[in-house]
Amino acid sequence: MSNAAETVQEEEIDLAAANEVIDKYMDMHGALMPVLQDVQEAYGYIPEPCVHLIAERLNVYTSQIYGVLTFYAQFHLEPRGRYIVRVCMGTACHVKGAGRIADTLKERLGIGHAETTEDLKFTAEYVACIGACGMAPVIMVNDGTYGSMTVQKMDEVIAKYKAMD
Ligand code: FES
Repeated sequence: MSNAAETVQEEEIDLAAANEVIDKYMDMHGALMPVLQDVQEAYGYIPEPCVHLIAERLNVYTSQIYGVLTFYAQFHLEPRGRYIVRVCMGTACHVKGAGRIADTLKERLGIGHAETTEDLKFTAEYVACIGACGMAPVIMVNDGTYGSMTVQKMDEVIAKYKAMD
């Protein structure tokens, strides 16, 4: 018998996409990694009910799956925002005020490192040097790079993505 919280969560997640992914790799040796990668691709993260489904269908322990998920940084166990705002905290950016940029993001959207807004629009990540030190301080929003950031420019970038779907 499952408890109420579990039931609610399982109802919220449509497992059809996960089942499809598992069908595809089912008979392959070493199916776990490609299954996890494709499930994350389908959902944007690895929902807990999917972990249980994968364990059951691939006949592996859930603890083994969580071991893989926590070992590889590429996997996410929580929903992430549509726009991932990466604030570079490397030395050059730090010296040129990355802390102030991170604070601005926190003030405007209420999110710090690894946090996501409730509407699932933005996730903040503080990252190591992204290789654009000449433009410090630098942020990235998904694939877009924004350099020489100031509080005013942050407001403009945030407003731009807020206005997008
Ligand atoms: S330190 Fe930020 S881009 Fe290099």
